[in-house]
Order: sequence, then C-alpha cells, then structure tokens
Amino acid sequence: MSLSMRADGLTGFVTLDNPPVNAIDKAMRDGLMEAVTWAERENFDRVIVTGAGRAFAAGADAKEFDGAALEPYLPDVCDAIERSFVPWIAAINGVALGGGAEIALACRMRIAGPRAQIGLPEVTLGVIPGAGGTQRAMRLCGLDKALDMIAFGRPLRAVDALKAGLIHAVEDDPVEAADMINTEELQCVVPTWELPAPAHDDAAFAAIRERLAQRSPGQIAPLRAVEVIEQGLSLPFAEAMKQERAAFMDLKQGDQSRALRHMFFAERAAKPPKNLPAAPELTEIAVVGGGTMGAGIAYACLSIGLPVTLLETDQDGVDRAEANIGKLIQSGMDRGRLSADGAQALRDRLTATTDYGKAANAPLAIEAAFEDMEVKKAIFAQLDAALSPGAVLATNTSYLDVDEIAASTRDPSRVLGLHFFAPAHIMRLLEIVKGAQTSDHALATGYALGKLLKKVPVLAGVCDGFIGNRIYSRYREAADTVFMDGSTPWEVDEAMENFGYAMGPYEVADLSGLDIGYAARRRQDATRDPNRRYIPIADRMVELGKLGKKVGAGWYRYPGGGGKVEDPIVADLALEEAHFAGIERTEYDEAQIIERLTLAMINEAADVLAEGIAQSAAGIDLVTVFGYGFPRWRGGLMHYADTIGVPHIVERITALQAEDPVAWKLSPVLADCAERGLNLAQWTQG
Ligand code: 3HC
Repeated sequence: MSLSMRADGLTGFVTLDNPPVNAIDKAMRDGLMEAVTWAERENFDRVIVTGAGRAFAAGADAKEFDGAALEPYLPDVCDAIERSFVPWIAAINGVALGGGAEIALACRMRIAGPRAQIGLPEVTLGVIPGAGGTQRAMRLCGLDKALDMIAFGRPLRAVDALKAGLIHAVEDDPVEAADMINTEELQCVVPTWELPAPAHDDAAFAAIRERLAQRSPGQIAPLRAVEVIEQGLSLPFAEAMKQERAAFMDLKQGDQSRALRHMFFAERAAKPPKNLPAAPELTEIAVVGGGTMGAGIAYACLSIGLPVTLLETDQDGVDRAEANIGKLIQSGMDRGRLSADGAQALRDRLTATTDYGKAANAPLAIEAAFEDMEVKKAIFAQLDAALSPGAVLATNTSYLDVDEIAASTRDPSRVLGLHFFAPAHIMRLLEIVKGAQTSDHALATGYALGKLLKKVPVLAGVCDGFIGNRIYSRYREAADTVFMDGSTPWEVDEAMENFGYAMGPYEVADLSGLDIGYAARRRQDATRDPNRRYIPIADRMVELGKLGKKVGAGWYRYPGGGGKVEDPIVADLALEEAHFAGIERTEYDEAQIIERLTLAMINEAADVLAEGIAQSAAGIDLVTVFGYGFPRWRGGLMHYADTIGVPHIVERITALQAEDPVAWKLSPVLADCAERGLNLAQWTQG
C-alpha cells in the first residue's frame, strides 16, 4: 500500500512509506483514499500524515509518467483529504516536493521539521504541478511567491516556507506538535480551497515572463505554469483545478518532459560499475599544478574538508597557486558561500610546496599541469617515486594518451584519467578515463572522489578527447565548415543559441582562448587524414593575434573589454579563404546550421559508442549536458537524436556524405540501428 495507518485514541496516524523517498505511486494513492474513508469511519479528531525515513514525499512517481495515468488520480486524492470532515495535518519530516507538497497543501495544517523543504519543482521535469499545487500555493503564499516558486521550481526551506505563509509552524518534532494542536483551533482553520485567490497583478506577470525569457529560454513548462496561475485567478477553484490538470497531462506527454525525465534518471543512474572493490578512505589529496584547473580542483577538494598538498615546480609556481586558490576563496566569501572562519579553515588545509615528499601519504594525486606529454611524464615519474605504491595517480588531461602517461610509471595499473571541466569547483561533469591497464582499485578511487565532490561521473575510454572533447571537436569542425562555405560566426552562434545552448561555439572559443584549439590542431597535424578538408580560418585568427576575449579580439571584438560586437574582418577571412579554395559560398538558414552541427556531433558520438569509448548513449547525454551546455530540456545529444529519429538521421547524413565523403561517414552504429529498428538508447555492442 506504500503507507501504513494506525490509530491512537482519536488520532489517526498515516505514514507514507515507499523507500527511499516516498514517491507517490498508485499503491500510495490507493492507500490515501482508504485512509480518508478509514478516518471518517473511525470518526477521528484528526489525521496526522508524515513520511517514513528521510522524506515526507518526493512527489508523484515519475516512473509512472510514461504510461497512462492510473486511478485514483492525485488531484482527487488531495481533494478527498481537503474536503474530509476529519481535518488532516501534514507533519513534514523531510522534503515535501511536487505531489508531496500538494498533499501537504491540501491538509488543513502543515507543521515542518527544521530541516524540511517544501516546493513544487515540477518544471524541472518539464511539467507543472498537476494536483492543485498552482491553485493552493497562490492562495496560501500570495501571487509573487507562488509564481517564483513554481516557475523556477525552487523549494523553500522550512523557515522560509513559514515566512511565506505556506506552513503554520516549524517544530523539532512535527508529529508531536501536530498531536498537541487544540481541537477547536484546528476546526477553525479554513481549508485552502475556500481561501480567495489573489488579485490579478499585471506587473507581476510581466516580470516573471521577462525573467523566464532570460533564464529558461526555450522551455515550455514554466510559461505554461504562469499561464495556468493567471487563468486560475478568475476561475472557480474546481475549474482552475481542471485546467491545471489538463496542462499537466499535456506536458507530461511532450518531448521536453520526456527529455527532462530522462536526464533526471540518467543522472541518478551514473554510478560506479558493479563489482568495484571498496575505495580507500580519501584522507587527503595531492594536486599537481596550480593554474586555473589545478587551483579549481584543489579548491573543490578543500571545500569538502579534504587537506590538499598542491605541488609546483618552483617558488613562483607555489605563489601563483596560492594566489589562484586565494581568488577562489575570496570569490566564495564575496558570494556569501564562505564565512571568514570557513575561509581560514580552507587555507589551513592547503599546503602549497615544491616538495613531493609532503604528499607521500596521499591516497590520490591529480595532475593538472600543462598539456604536454613530456611535462606530464616527468611529473608522473616524480609522483611514482614519492607516493606510496598503493596510491592512485590521475591525470586531468583533456586530450593526451592516458596509456602513454601510465606507461611512464612503474605500475600503470594505478593510473587513470580524471577529467574535470572548468571551473572545476562548479562544473558537475567528471570523465573517469579508464586506461588499458587501469585497475579496479584506481577506478573505485576516482569514483569515490567524484561522489565526495557531488560530480556526475561518466566512464570513458582512451582516445583523443575522450567522450566530450572528441564530440566537441566535430562540432567545431562543422561550425567552421558552415562558416567558410557561407555563414558568419554570429549566424552560427545565434542558431545554436536558439537551439538551446547558452552560447554559440564562437563565443565559447573566445572565452577559452583560440590558442587552445590551435595547440590541439598542431598536435593532430601528424595524424590528420590528409584527404580530410582542413579549414584554415581559426589558424589565421591566431596568426593575426585574435586570441579571444582575453586580448579584446577573437571571433568577436570586445571594445574596452566590454560586450561582444561583430567583426567584419572576421567575416572577410571566410570570403578570402573560400576564394583561395575555389569554393562557391552558399547561404545556410538557421535550420540548416543547426542540422549540420548537431548531425556532426551525433555521428561522432555514435562512433564513440561503437568503439566502446562511452558505455551508453545515456553517458553521452550526461557528458554533453553537464560538460558542454547541450540543452538539458532536449535530454542530451543522443536522446535528442532519438527524438528526431535514427531513420531521418541516416537519410540526412547519407545526403551530406555525397557532398563530402571524408567528413561525413555514416557511423556503423547508426547504420546498425536503422537496420535493426533500434534507437540509440537501445543499441548495445552486438
Ligand atoms: N519519482 C520516482 N523516483 C524518484 C523520485 C520521483 N519523483 N524522486 C526520487 N526518486 C528516486 C531516484 O530516482 C533515486 O532512485 P535510485 O535510488 O534508484 O537511483 C531515489 O529516488 C533517490 O533519489 P536521489 O538519489 O535523488 O536522492 P537524494 O536524497 O539526493 O534527493 C530528492 C532526494 C530531493 C527527493 C530528489 O530525488 C528529487 O529532487 N526528486 C524529484 C522531486 C520532484 O521533481 N518531484 C516532482 C515530481 S512530479 C509531480 O509530483 C507531479 C505532481 O504535481 C502531480
């Protein structure tokens, strides 16, 4: 039944019980309906509903969303609770989210524990509250608060929910407090549905729509929630409930909700492979290199309480590392995330030194030095000598061969890649790169650090760029081809922003610096297929000193260090190069730009899957969303590919292959899927 009931005198106790977080499934809805009848039959004075374990209820069971809705529906359950002559009190012991919050809002009173949270985060799953959340929340906490809470899906802490008027009290023991409430007082509380709806406020609706346009572009559900709230203001409660439910049901079946649910479950399924041994306790970490990445990694580790020994080559390096970490600490304080004491404790945990001996006891070292094989090998030789034989040695390289680095140590089995993304203390993706000889112990250690840092770990194999950078290189190549053959960087950027990226590839390149890609291309010179078309524009940019935002000019100009402006000289470069290459330029519209760039990535990603570099399509989705800004509401690259359909993709890539047979070679995985009638999520190595 997913809940239990017991009577104590005139009080009925209902405990929602569906581990681990009391998601509301059909069995729980059945149980709640039965509990309403039971309480009335027993003529209780009150029912106290709480959750078993750490949650009150995490909301409707999202696993049921793929199928048809099953009776009893949650809005009817909430109505039955609210309209029962026995008043219900929600004793909110932990998170009450989505449908969980809706049950609580339908209760006559709500008392929360100090660590409880209450919220309506449905938009993060691409839907809106579907069991009265929009209507009851606005009656309890007013229009502004309800709009903010529902449109952005942000839960409130118990104290804030109390201030907002969403709950009645915060008590250490909410069940006991609910039991103590005076019966007359309880009987006097007006059921939420009987409260008047707030008055319409044009300014509030204009403001929320403007904020959504800026912060959630492309997403349907938040706007729909606002619309439902607005319409509900002038409708009778029962009518407003019906239109809320209709919108919820409609969104639940849409592509965006499917994509966001896929991301929700993929993120939670990102766990270590089965049968890994227990990881060693991570008592301290060694980080080699105090540049941007090294400092970010060190800061992330320091922030979770780990002592860090930061290793540098000379005193200048030590000073620079301390300064870089100091800046991150200061920024944490400026944002109010770190107190003065917290900052001091963080500094106390840091030892920056040139002496590798100081890291002798570290169970894990992460090298984040310059991307140069010889530099890395020299560092690994030092780590190999200084750390204990059981210690795990990781490289944060973005492209270099982890096996070659490992081969320079006495025991390659203890080497793996831990590829962080900048800024390392913020970005959630962690590619865990398994070399040919990487041991399970080393992998388990990498996963253990990922878990402590709350990263999304994705297992990757060794190749140039692993999963993410390899796919991104194809994206960049496709962008440059479109640019050279007929577009401008700003048209490409605008198209990809409209697709859902926060920034297009050219603006991103300006931020990271064009010299980074230049160095990568020089490294690939020796192995590049001579028949593959090479677009020289990015090299010309570097030769002209247009290195990106840091020098005030890259693909865009940044006059006075300010915002970007288009640079006609850059557009002319493509005209010039196209002329030298004898290319007749064509104009691409936005749909064509998006198609070429996304198909290039999808085809490469399918190869990444074929070669076993990624273990699953869902892993690629996590990499593209958490590391490269692919729109989450499209579900990641491979989920998006499955949305547009493998047969269509195969047809389009085959057409592009006729145009350039070297750049476009249909991946065997796509061909296999088409032949076997599979989508990419279903494909496994045959
Ligand atoms: N449905 C189904 N499963 C859910 C779930 C849900 N709503 N919420 C959590 N779970 C599952 C997770 O998939 C995970 O399963 P696993 O153990 O097999 O991997 C397990 O519960 C534990 O979840 P977490 O790993 O996320 O545990 P945390 O303690 O880190 O977080 C949480 C708990 C804050 C509740 C978080 O899981 C969460 O945010 N859940 C989603 C909340 C939500 O969006 N609710 C709205 C649902 S839509 C709705 O209610 C519609 C209604 O208006 C009609």
